[in-house]
Amino acid sequence: MKIKTVYECSECNVQTSRWNGQCSSCKAWNCLDEKTVTKAAKGFSKSISTISTRKISEIEDVKMLKIKSFTNELDRVLGDGFMKGGMYLLGGEPGIGKSTISLQILNHLNKDFKSLYVAGEESVSQIASRAKRLNCDLDKVDFIESCLVEQIEANLNLNQYDFLIIDSIQVMRFAESLAGTSSTIRQICEKLIEVAKLKGITTIIIGHVTKEGELAGPKVLEHLVDVVLYIEGERSSPYRFLKAVKNRFGPTNDVGLFKMEEIGLNPIDNPALEFVESKNESLIGAALTCVLNEHRPLVVEVQALCIASNFGYPKRSAVGFDLNRLNMIIAVLQKYYGIDLSNQDVFVNVSGGLKIKDSGCDLALMKAIVSSYKKIPNKLDSIYLGECSLTGKIKPANLFSLREVEMKRLAYNIFTQIS
Ligand code: TYD
Ligand code: MG
Repeated sequence: MKIKTVYECSECNVQTSRWNGQCSSCKAWNCLDEKTVTKAAKGFSKSISTISTRKISEIEDVKMLKIKSFTNELDRVLGDGFMKGGMYLLGGEPGIGKSTISLQILNHLNKDFKSLYVAGEESVSQIASRAKRLNCDLDKVDFIESCLVEQIEANLNLNQYDFLIIDSIQVMRFAESLAGTSSTIRQICEKLIEVAKLKGITTIIIGHVTKEGELAGPKVLEHLVDVVLYIEGERSSPYRFLKAVKNRFGPTNDVGLFKMEEIGLNPIDNPALEFVESKNESLIGAALTCVLNEHRPLVVEVQALCIASNFGYPKRSAVGFDLNRLNMIIAVLQKYYGIDLSNQDVFVNVSGGLKIKDSGCDLALMKAIVSSYKKIPNKLDSIYLGECSLTGKIKPANLFSLREVEMKRLAYNIFTQIS
């Protein structure tokens, strides 16, 4: 055995051999603490013997015991429901709907399963009044108001629970430690997972996402759990998108669509058509496209307004669309399609408050701008799909066939060129 000095970051636990003012991994300042570690001498230890190897054909498949939630929109993201004994991390900005959806999940499970809800942030009376508002039947759910891991462990040992909700991991602490630092959050998460795994409890750990979009600072928790779910959306819009960024039991390219309404976070019935109105219309300055959210096709209306500039320098403004891309499209229309927008203000908007980052929607924006400029309406039974290139050519949209199948199913006409 050798004794060695290392420097460990108190934020993300990454170790380096040299001291630095800033951690090279999480970029936090003044957080490297000196530690001595014992290192095994090089070479194999003689005391550890080999273990037997197995061929794939000799290994049994894992039994996937899935438990359905209250909606297919969630189940499809989970991979056909919750895996019994699985560890789930549910992330999202404060106020996005994590506690709400957790109560709705428990409401559905209530008739067959026993659950423990650990309220660390809100009082149980606040949760009870919300549950009543949501018409939840939670008589088999035990609620505790606690932030102490030891207390939670004791309660888990008292009863056999099927489901456990920790709301939220950021406020949890050991009796002897303070809440909040990344390394304690990781230790707490490890402890809770150890207890839950031992008892086969399906666990949802709620975690707030920081401004940088990371769970509890560095992504220290993601590799500890089986599934990492995020709820995304704009606070100003009722739409919420549930995604799995890691899933040991299912896909990671799907998205569940929900709407935050007066009573709960509700699944959208027909998501593909949620963001558009009548099909039997023609509109000046609008064109439909099919945007892919993960691998889920959604019909979206792109709107443009061209209006004579009052000042010498024309204004370009985009809501839900990248402004640089809009400027590029305007330049291409001007150079290759004879649309002179040099004295026009151009405003762009995307229906439903969606943000498009999908270049396959370029053609629809071109059609919307041309329509507004020439005052010629576009029919809203047509979908425009194509990516604008600087040469003026329209290239096929990424994953075209995926979009095509869904658009044909919904009886849209598909166009892949501007005229
Ligand atoms: P919440 O689930 O508390 O968010 P989180 O746990 O992610 O912090 O959701 C809070 C927001 O949701 C709050 O702004 C009120 C709104 N809300 C509704 O619009 N309808 C409802 O039925 C509920 C319960 C909440
Ligand atoms: Mg909450």
